[in-house]
Amino acid sequence: MAVTFSAEKPGHAAQIEAVLNRAFGPGRFAKTSERVRERGARHELALSRVGLNEAGEVVGVCRIYAVHAGAPIFFLGPLAVDPRAQQAGLGLALVRECITACRAGGSAPIVLVGAESFFRPAGFSVVPKDRVSLPGPVDPARLLWLELRPGGLDKVQGEVTAPLR
Ligand SMILES: CC(C)(COP(=O)(O)OP(=O)(O)OC[C@H]1O[C@@H](n2cnc3c(N)ncnc32)[C@H](O)[C@@H]1OP(=O)(O)O)[C@@H](O)C(=O)NCCC(=O)NCCS
Repeated sequence: MAVTFSAEKPGHAAQIEAVLNRAFGPGRFAKTSERVRERGARHELALSRVGLNEAGEVVGVCRIYAVHAGAPIFFLGPLAVDPRAQQAGLGLALVRECITACRAGGSAPIVLVGAESFFRPAGFSVVPKDRVSLPGPVDPARLLWLELRPGGLDKVQGEVTAPLR
């Protein structure tokens, strides 16, 4: 399947919902990451990426939200690939596309909740103990970050909240 990447546009929303539902199934809204997104995180459409198949249909999505924890942060997720398109490198490619967009869009680091084994090839590592918390339970081994500019993590500290501006 040939996939092209694009910034997310409002018109993708319905197809993205369908991909998220197929990929995550029930329980999608129970995640602590959803609490972050509910609490005033700002969805950055221009930094979020979709993967489109030859017919122009959404087969994968990686969203970026602006949040704050001592300093501005990009919060990555949800990341989802349609089950029919999984295991072909699309998930990691979407993550890399978002990293490139965030790097061009500012100096804030990226934080996410996910499997370190999956995100490590893109440069993510486990957040050191007690540096960042979320508004709900999270396995500390799954709280990951990525510095995009030297020193970009220095002021990151505390609970993730809505962006200050
Ligand atoms: C996670 C997901 C986006 C990966 O998409 P993908 O296009 O299949 O990813 P890639 O092809 O780039 O990478 C596949 C690798 O990711 C691994 N992987 C998939 N889901 C994983 C998970 N939840 N935890 C750890 N590794 C995972 C696969 O085992 C595979 O590893 P391998 O290459 O060693 O076999 C996709 O499986 C998905 O949408 N899952 C449901 C939603 C979800 O869990 N999202 C992630 C939340 S952080």
